[in-house]
Amino acid sequence: MSLSNLTKDKQIIAIVCNQFGDTGKGKFSDYFAANWADVIARGTGGNNAGHTIILNGKEKILHLLPSGIIQDSKGKINILGNGMVIDIKALCQELEELEKENLTYKNLMISKDAHIIMPWHVSQDRAKNMSQKSGGIGSTGRGIGPCYADKIARRGIKIADLFDEEVLEYKINKIKQFYPEQEIDFQKTLSELKPYIEKIKPFVKNTIQEIHKLKEQGKKICLEGAQGLFLSVEHGTYPYVTSSDPSINGTASGVGLNAQDVDLTLGIIKFPFMTRVGAGPFPTELGGKSSEEYCAQGLEHDEDYEIKTYIGNANKQEKTIDLMNSEDEFTQGVGIRLAAGEYGATTKRPRRTGWTDAVLAKYARRINGPHFILTKVDSLAGAKQFGICYGHKLNGNTTTEYDQNGKFLKQITPELKFYDGYSDISQVKDFDSLPEGLKQSIKDFEDFTGGKVEIISVGAGRDETIVR
Ligand code: IMP
Repeated sequence: MSLSNLTKDKQIIAIVCNQFGDTGKGKFSDYFAANWADVIARGTGGNNAGHTIILNGKEKILHLLPSGIIQDSKGKINILGNGMVIDIKALCQELEELEKENLTYKNLMISKDAHIIMPWHVSQDRAKNMSQKSGGIGSTGRGIGPCYADKIARRGIKIADLFDEEVLEYKINKIKQFYPEQEIDFQKTLSELKPYIEKIKPFVKNTIQEIHKLKEQGKKICLEGAQGLFLSVEHGTYPYVTSSDPSINGTASGVGLNAQDVDLTLGIIKFPFMTRVGAGPFPTELGGKSSEEYCAQGLEHDEDYEIKTYIGNANKQEKTIDLMNSEDEFTQGVGIRLAAGEYGATTKRPRRTGWTDAVLAKYARRINGPHFILTKVDSLAGAKQFGICYGHKLNGNTTTEYDQNGKFLKQITPELKFYDGYSDISQVKDFDSLPEGLKQSIKDFEDFTGGKVEIISVGAGRDETIVR
């Protein structure tokens, strides 16, 4: 089967992450944006997300704009939905990047109801949440949490408010009391924001009305998820989560649609390893607490550091495989990170690595539906064996159900089943030709979660994709 068969008779498709973000949504949202969708819409989060695209042969990272923006000249509509939080300066910087590459964004729509990340949100987020060393949750420091907090506390500032100075002045003056340690001045804020307000003005719309019109016209819509289910404020490992709900429900509501309008939700997971960035429980983490602490040092242990320290002058590929096959779990985790290039797109931080947790995936199937995409499967080539977690064990008792209780998740040990590893699979084109250990693990994963693996990604290239 091909990707186009999967999309047959579908009008709205969503691509969401069923782990902790960074599962490679990019490859598939690019595919759907370029080959299928007329409209690409994002409903949650802000510039905490990161999505690498290739512009005129150069790698660029988009944080806010949906991946379909590079298809703007073909008439594709990209929407920043009502559920998002938007730093308008960061948005204008992304638009300028497009201008530099002679790309258009004339069909962009920005929801008048999205909330704005103000400078005080960023300062507060950096002061309180960014540093894991001082007990923060390791946020991306983009002001996401404080902005959503103001939204929920009913004092947030929406995009629409930028175009009514009276309302804006009232809201900014009112908000001062909640940020006593910061100097907030209406005139100063306004003059700082003025150029960005002018730039985005033509694109600000009632996107909820617009998306429904587009739907009624029969346009094909791709919802581009952000972050991941276990970073959801509703479903994730609270409080180590982001402040939005990137499940299919939050994603649909964040663009003004009903989740039942979505014809196909594809939930992406990395397999057979997974990652997490920032603090919070990660039951299958290789190297456990030492890995968490090591990765919390952030840039001190970035990719350059790890290459220098763990590879040195050795052959990178061979040495990485040695690391993955080490007796020591922490070292295995480093090997997987190097093999799969697991460093943050937004922050460059090393990502924590561990085995894929099917207990989490089973929960994800209940919330986001049964259709899975497995990504990064090729990265583990050369590892002699790999594990998949089918239970969370504490004091002799095993549960196969995810519970967001952080204390519990930090104490449990994962019940792992190990499978034979595999070598290069990037040229494999059909499921039956995959190595036995991998095939068995996918079958077991499906039986356990009740889900169906629709697509297996075995490389970054579009043709390195197995559709079942
Ligand atoms: P925030 O979204 O910046 O508030 O960060 C909250 C938590 O979510 C932190 O642990 C971040 O590392 C994590 N996080 C936020 N956005 C992403 C993402 O796009 N990928 C992976 N982790 C993320």
